[in-house]
Amino acid sequence: MHRTVGFVRAHARVVARATVMACATMGFAAAAAAPSGSKASAAFALPSLPWAKNALEPYIMARTIGFHYDKHHRAYVDNLNRLLEGKGAATGPIEKVIVESAGKADKTAIFNNAAQVWNHTFFWKSMKKGGGGLPKGALLDRIKATFGSFDKFKTAFVAAGAAQFGSGWVWLVEEGKTLKIVTTANADTPIAHGQKPLVTCDVWEHAYYLDYQNRRKDFLAAFLDHLVNWEFAAAQLE
Ligand SMILES: [Fe+2]
Repeated sequence: MHRTVGFVRAHARVVARATVMACATMGFAAAAAAPSGSKASAAFALPSLPWAKNALEPYIMARTIGFHYDKHHRAYVDNLNRLLEGKGAATGPIEKVIVESAGKADKTAIFNNAAQVWNHTFFWKSMKKGGGGLPKGALLDRIKATFGSFDKFKTAFVAAGAAQFGSGWVWLVEEGKTLKIVTTANADTPIAHGQKPLVTCDVWEHAYYLDYQNRRKDFLAAFLDHLVNWEFAAAQLE
């Protein structure tokens, strides 16, 4: 289920398909051809982290990143490749796999794993060492215009992430020409709903429990105050 803060809405699949064309591929290679004579190759590779595993300390410890990236993110990549093996489905960017499997009961596992691969890659890029604080320029102006002030945006983002029941994600997205804070449950992702993500924070417990235990709000506050990569967010709007 995808939830825009304050209301629930259905999204036309035609919009989602358009997203594939508009959405950056985030460095995912299209399916690699299997070397001749080799066992079936992995169609999608685990993207590298954009920083060292200890780069986000003390806000996210290297041990957390280690489990999150090496176990969880890698498992989604491995599961996706296993699900697609021999089906000839991984012949394009991962965004295509996500949009084409969204909402299809017989492709739920493919959607969940592909979306989680994409979401995590986007999450890593949403953070940097020395991040947080205020965005600059047009992005700051748009956040102020949309939410009233940057502090009101922060309050709304933390509240939305904290209120996401169970596992999921909180995002700042652009839909049409409007900025919105949205949450998605489990693996769901804005790119399946015609929205352009700018930044995200993973609110699955595996993202923060080692460092924050049940204090999800503190994790979200640390994300905004010390980690969020506003240059990456601004680049998504260009
Ligand atoms: Fe995660």
